[in-house]
Amino acid sequence: MKNCLSLLEYDSKEVEQILETALRIKKSWSQGKRPPLLAGKVLALVFEKPSLRTRASFEAAMFQMGGSSIFLSASDGAIGKRESVADFARTLSHFADAVVLRTFSHQTIVEFAEHATVPVINGLSELYHPCQALADILTIRENFGPKKGLQVVFVGDGNNVSRSLAIACAKAGHCFRLVGPKGYLFDKPFLDFFKKEFPDSSLEQTSDLKNSMTGADAIYADVWTSMGQEKERAKRLKIFKPYQVNNTLMAKASSNCIFLHCLPAHRGEEVTEEVIDGPQSRVFPQAGNRMHVQKALLLKMIGPRK
Ligand code: CP
Ligand code: NVA
Repeated sequence: MKNCLSLLEYDSKEVEQILETALRIKKSWSQGKRPPLLAGKVLALVFEKPSLRTRASFEAAMFQMGGSSIFLSASDGAIGKRESVADFARTLSHFADAVVLRTFSHQTIVEFAEHATVPVINGLSELYHPCQALADILTIRENFGPKKGLQVVFVGDGNNVSRSLAIACAKAGHCFRLVGPKGYLFDKPFLDFFKKEFPDSSLEQTSDLKNSMTGADAIYADVWTSMGQEKERAKRLKIFKPYQVNNTLMAKASSNCIFLHCLPAHRGEEVTEEVIDGPQSRVFPQAGNRMHVQKALLLKMIGPRK
């Protein structure tokens, strides 16, 4: 039984298989086909933070594949507060075939997974957002084909989304660059870990905007203040201001460069209206791809045995 807490659980070949399955599923879905491959299966979603895409895409995925879902928010027994994380996991494992968790602390997901007897999926923690990264890589694949060595440039915070995207790029054979203010880039433990885990992959980071878009095939933005960091918002708005993705920044890359964003977006902050609604933007197909990659992941975890 394999979990998906950070994507590190899957090797490049398995990531490739997930992408291929997702593309196949997406094609047949667009032809109106919805085979009940998860009939009778139940997915539980336990969310401590708000969500549109992650919740809706997982729930839609389950329904479209003939299964169903149970959504539990903090008011349904705040995980680790009304009862221990371990007891929560042991209990839920009797009702659900897999569990998606969105938590403030990644440690909660790790602890849950230690005690669950069904596969656990990270639906976003402060450290990682693996399902987002799978959808990001699928969107890149749809735009550029199976080509490797593309340059993905994330402009902003060394956060959950950029960390997972860096890992997914390494798995998919792409190069990753983080461009953001000093003090908000990847920390040394992550850089050391990355180098050890992916010695042949390219990971760069810089605070210098000059030349930072050179060779970019995809420019990616995320909010400057993630969920749980609300108290830092005013400070972050000032610090990240030079790193807004606008037409001037996009013009530094080639006209084939696409714009990606995990959403929700704060228009006028990390990205301007003209870019997110412009011809290079792929943010809504990217959001749609959440459902297709997650279907592929669920099939791998709890689908019929081949
Ligand atoms: N991108 C993403 O995870 O969106 P939600 O927070 O709405 O789930
Ligand atoms: N970094 C953002 C991503 C939201 C999908 C957050 O954690 O709030």
